[in-house]
Amino acid sequence: MHSASYLRDLEPWYLVGLKDQEKDKKVSTEYQKKLFFQRKEERVINVVKHLSIDPSKISFIEHHLAHLAAAYYTANNITPNKPILGFTCDGAGDGLSATVSICKNNSIKRIRSTDRHASLGKIYSRITMMLGMKPWEHEYKIMGLAPYADEKIANEEAKKLHHLLKLSRDGLSFKLNTNLSTNYCYYYLRDAFERVRFDNIAGAVQKFTEEILVKWVKAAIKKTNIKDIVCGGGVFMNVKANMLIQKIPELNSMYVMPSASDESLSIGAALHYFYNSKKLFNNINGRMHNLYLGSEIKEDELKKILLNVKNKTDFTIRENPDFDDVIGDLLNKGEVVALCRGRAEWGARALGNRSIIAKANSRSIVEKINSQIKMRDYWMPFAPTILDKKFSQCIEDKKNIKPEFMTFALPTKKSAHKNLEGATHPSDKTCRPQIMRKKINDKFYSILNRYCIKYKQYGVLQTSFNIHGEPIVNNAKEAVSTLKRSGLKHLVLENYLISKKSK
Ligand SMILES: [Fe+2]
Repeated sequence: MHSASYLRDLEPWYLVGLKDQEKDKKVSTEYQKKLFFQRKEERVINVVKHLSIDPSKISFIEHHLAHLAAAYYTANNITPNKPILGFTCDGAGDGLSATVSICKNNSIKRIRSTDRHASLGKIYSRITMMLGMKPWEHEYKIMGLAPYADEKIANEEAKKLHHLLKLSRDGLSFKLNTNLSTNYCYYYLRDAFERVRFDNIAGAVQKFTEEILVKWVKAAIKKTNIKDIVCGGGVFMNVKANMLIQKIPELNSMYVMPSASDESLSIGAALHYFYNSKKLFNNINGRMHNLYLGSEIKEDELKKILLNVKNKTDFTIRENPDFDDVIGDLLNKGEVVALCRGRAEWGARALGNRSIIAKANSRSIVEKINSQIKMRDYWMPFAPTILDKKFSQCIEDKKNIKPEFMTFALPTKKSAHKNLEGATHPSDKTCRPQIMRKKINDKFYSILNRYCIKYKQYGVLQTSFNIHGEPIVNNAKEAVSTLKRSGLKHLVLENYLISKKSK
């Protein structure tokens, strides 16, 4: 784990070059080991204190094993007794930055790994830093910027990244192309991309990442003849790269752990320990059916908040209105509606319980949402939630991925471009869809179903419920506070519809 100083100041971690690499090489391995074990001990103390448990109950699972276990044990494309290929790829963890494994029943057999110095993820995060954004957080903004690049220039510029990192001869691991570690590549990138336009740099790193990932996965399929894959680790948060991987002709099925960065490690570690200590494997129990694993709205808190709102003259409150009709009509009129119901989503994506929804068939709605609440970077697209029975009418999904957790970008069908224009990327017409089924989220499905049938739509635009720069809303108090402080007019809070009176 990084020390707390990382959170205060990123620069010492990123602004390093060859000279620092040479200097750091001189630090003895003994000292590094000592530091590693000291941090490990500190972590044990933290966990013991936080959970009030006996230290003997704590065990460690290696970083990439936990990434893969999170993907493998929650996957929806497992057939019992049939081997599946597992990939992990991230910045780095426990000395590695990528692995390839064969998973079967409760065994995960690693066949190849990549050293942390030859890290694909680290190149991406350093480009993120170089373009003035926050590494480990804003990589998605680089991905969103990439389709605006000039393709020819981006391909040309990507060569500067291929100069740093390549695939091994058998294609199953990444290798440094020079003696410069990706940990220390910041100044190389600065020199290499001096005076190259920002969007073309984004295009270059995205192209490079896509190309190397697709070749890596292809090589592993060829080597093992296993055509079903599961993926974990932060690099697989790159939904555009996932779109290209799933298109590999010889690939049969693909599952990506939702929110595959390090937030998924605890799930992987727990599942790995569980299946191995029990010596059993029944993936049906571990399979991820929904991600509503967060906190609920507490009844007493809700009552208090409602009482507070009732005393204000500028709000109307309706209890149990016919939500499906009322919300559908509001959406159709171009209104933006916030939803705060049930348990909050775990992970990086809002999926309907702490979400803002609006009609998807309008480009101008993007501006409205941004001015009311989101203030999203001007190049970033919004994403749609699509009704299950309409999915195949509007999304190109030959591998039948039907993503429930927004882990893939997919192209929209030409006939649906207009209808989904508020929730697709304006440049390449792809989108990061969430398919909505009744069994995933009954209440959200019900609103969506009525709206889509009544107004002949495929779905709605759906984004996280938060003011720009703030964390996603969690409880009733935060929901009402966000309503008050933003230009939003309507909030569904459990069984109540709170609306601002128009002035
Ligand atoms: Fe990781």
